[in-house]
Amino acid sequence: MCAKKVLVTYATKYGTTEEIAGQIAQILVDSGLDIDLIPVMEVGKVDDYDAIIIGSPVYMGKILVEAREFCKQYKPYLEGKWIAFFVDGVSLCKKDEKSLKSMFSAIDDMLLYILIEEKAAFGGKLNFGVLSESDMQIATMAGAPEGDFSTPEEVRAWATDIAQKITEL
Ligand SMILES: Cc1cc2nc3c(=O)[nH]c(=O)nc-3n(C[C@H](O)[C@H](O)[C@H](O)COP(=O)(O)O)c2cc1C
Repeated sequence: MCAKKVLVTYATKYGTTEEIAGQIAQILVDSGLDIDLIPVMEVGKVDDYDAIIIGSPVYMGKILVEAREFCKQYKPYLEGKWIAFFVDGVSLCKKDEKSLKSMFSAIDDMLLYILIEEKAAFGGKLNFGVLSESDMQIATMAGAPEGDFSTPEEVRAWATDIAQKITEL
């Protein structure tokens, strides 16, 4: 039987989401799936994919505009595809219901364009040293915490679970 073909695509500003997308892609490869790992801005045709995983960081409660644009522009081509969506952000430095809800509401905004089978929210990373001046101002105003809140074990568990689901499609 032919391996299922999967697109893992992501938007990122400072590389954290790219890193998470890479971890997910590796786990899918290890599960025997055929993976393309491509930034949302560089995706071409999506006809050949059995499943698509989209990732974006959350900035000011929203996913990045290029991830939103991808969902909007590809809406007709994504119809009927199996889609998973993940977000990352530092509000998950504390794993309470409120933080999780606000992360998931950023994903739910995309239901206007696509049907999402699986979703996940992961802790992100914030390094004040690399931020643009305007991002630094916003982060300071919003009281965003600096640090590495990533959870590779949660990413691994989620990717392992979706690998199984995609294999069974
Ligand atoms: C200006 C600014 C706004 C942010 N807003 C949020 C937010 O609303 N919710 C959140 O969880 N994280 C927020 N973050 C943290 C980022 O989502 C987090 O650092 C993410 O992992 C960055 O991903 P990237 O490196 O792929 O861009 C914000 C960070 C900055 C600099």
